[in-house]
Amino acid sequence: MSQQQIRVGIIGAGSISDLHIAGHQRSSRSNVMAICDQNAERAKAKARQYGIPHYCTNYKELLSLKDIDAIVICTYNATHAQIAIDALASQKHVFVEKPLCISYEEAQEIEAAVKKSGKQLQVGFVRRFDSKVEKIKEMVDSGAIGEIYYAKMSALRRLGNPGGWFADKEKSGGGPLIDVGIHLLDLCLYFMASPTVKTVKAVTYKKLGSRNHIKNLSYYTAADPGEGNNTVEELAAASIRFDNGACLLLDTSYTLHASKDETVCIIYGTKGGVEVEPNFVVSTDCYNTILNAYPQIDQDVSHLQSAYPKQIEGFIDCCMNGSAPRHSIEDSLLTMKIIHAIYESAENGNEIFFE
Ligand SMILES: NC(=O)c1ccc[n+]([C@@H]2O[C@H](COP(=O)([O-])OP(=O)(O)OC[C@H]3O[C@@H](n4cnc5c(N)ncnc54)[C@H](O)[C@@H]3O)[C@@H](O)[C@H]2O)c1
Repeated sequence: MSQQQIRVGIIGAGSISDLHIAGHQRSSRSNVMAICDQNAERAKAKARQYGIPHYCTNYKELLSLKDIDAIVICTYNATHAQIAIDALASQKHVFVEKPLCISYEEAQEIEAAVKKSGKQLQVGFVRRFDSKVEKIKEMVDSGAIGEIYYAKMSALRRLGNPGGWFADKEKSGGGPLIDVGIHLLDLCLYFMASPTVKTVKAVTYKKLGSRNHIKNLSYYTAADPGEGNNTVEELAAASIRFDNGACLLLDTSYTLHASKDETVCIIYGTKGGVEVEPNFVVSTDCYNTILNAYPQIDQDVSHLQSAYPKQIEGFIDCCMNGSAPRHSIEDSLLTMKIIHAIYESAENGNEIFFE
């Protein structure tokens, strides 16, 4: 691409779109040209707020604009696949918020569309751009941690079903697993360099409901939280084994009788272990003793502050220079294969075996 700037269209003008619009507007290499939302008032308000020249309510209108090079998809999960496929067919680069889509079959269809179009597709697993994660990935890839053979990941919210479409399985594809647990699953696969999955055994529960009677605790909500049906799981727990012998234990909830929210992300290797969350600690043997080391790097209060702009610059690099996305379609094929198997195992009560 010989241009100095990419011209971007945003599809979905809800909560997360602000981070994308602001990030692209802060970049000297990007220009937000258009925004689309099925809710006309929301599209118009965001266009006015950010000085975006064009707004519309039908994403196909946005895709037909000649001066758009790339689109950012921030809509309901169940709409990601069709919008991404249509955008690729219109010769646009695509950034799609996580999850890529809601099924493994959809992921395969998107992969075919990416190959056919020759365009770039990056999926919004923003934590790969967190400075802590970047540092650990460097350590792992240099061999400092050894062979990672065990990992524990938890994303437990005691109260935090965002409501609206998030709570509607038809639109979201599932609950906390496909929404928040997927971030930690992705980190594990990233650190382990995309191992081949061998077996998946899982349970899901739906025992407490939305707990709308609880007051005085705030949490992330959909743009239209509404009072709709809650048809998603509220807790998922899974054991995932890989063909290199490694194992991941993952659990994640929207609601649970827990004393606090909890995020745990730990990898255990033959030369060292790394606790990414809740503390940032590297444990190893040194001088015949166990040594806990606390890496000293700048850390934001929220990973969103620096990771989102870095993720956006990464996508601009992909569009301008053809560099590989940090989370590619291939990465999401593996993620969606495991997510699908977790839901299948929980539904059937069986362990899922892959060839
Ligand atoms: N990376 C992260 O940490 C992170 C955080 C939050 C949300 N997300 C993802 O971002 C996406 C959006 O989430 P959100 O929190 O902004 O949701 P939201 O409910 O706040 O906004 C979604 C918007 O999409 C619009 N929309 C839905 N279908 C549409 C269509 N076909 N055409 C045009 N507009 C359409 C809705 O009207 C709504 O305004 C989801 O996939 C979610 O998983 C990622």
